[in-house]
Amino acid sequence: MAVRTLVVACALFLGMCFITSGERTETTHAFCKIVWLLAVPCDQVNMAIVTQIKAMGSYKLGPVTPLLIQANHTSAVGQVENVNFTMSAISMGLGCHVQGSSVSAFWFSLFDNGTNYCNLHNIIQGSGLTKAPGFVEFTNEWLCLGFGLSSCK
Ligand SMILES: *[C@@H]1O[C@H](CO)[C@@H](O)[C@H](O)[C@H]1NC(C)=O
Ligand SMILES: *[C@@H]1O[C@H](CO)[C@@H](O)[C@H](O)[C@H]1NC(C)=O
Ligand SMILES: *[C@@H]1O[C@H](CO)[C@@H](O)[C@H](O)[C@H]1NC(C)=O
Repeated sequence: MAVRTLVVACALFLGMCFITSGERTETTHAFCKIVWLLAVPCDQVNMAIVTQIKAMGSYKLGPVTPLLIQANHTSAVGQVENVNFTMSAISMGLGCHVQGSSVSAFWFSLFDNGTNYCNLHNIIQGSGLTKAPGFVEFTNEWLCLGFGLSSCK
């Protein structure tokens, strides 16, 4: 119970930090950044994400380290998006802060109907992590193009 409360407090705090940190944004490519917080250690989160990427035919897994997972996604229309998941431990290792980032390779996919959002969201959804304790997702239209329009399949 105490752990869950701590993670939620962290979630609010980090979410706020993330949204106001004024990170450099990619202006010529469609992109999406999402932050997830979970009351699950990062090594388990890492394993679940890697397993899910391997199970999905449209993704090609790149280099994986304990704190960074890289992959490429090829969508139906033949566009390629570069996808990263960056992990950091929170709550003394009992929780994990994950930043997902997806960037389209071509500028003409700027209006991507939420492709970049779905690239990230579908992996987390498919891995079952959305049902993990303390799961929260943060993003918005400025961090994630097409977020409001997306209906992930
Ligand atoms: C992903 O695509 C980039 C170019 O967009 C390429 O440099 C990289 O090697 C690719 N990674 C994988 C795992 O295919
Ligand atoms: C993924 O991480 C690599 C290595 O840090 C970086 O070069 C690349 O731009 C990142 N891609 C995305 C989509 O954030
Ligand atoms: C976005 O969705 C619209 C309507 O469904 C479609 O006509 C358009 O081709 C889509 N664009 C992309 C880049 O997928």
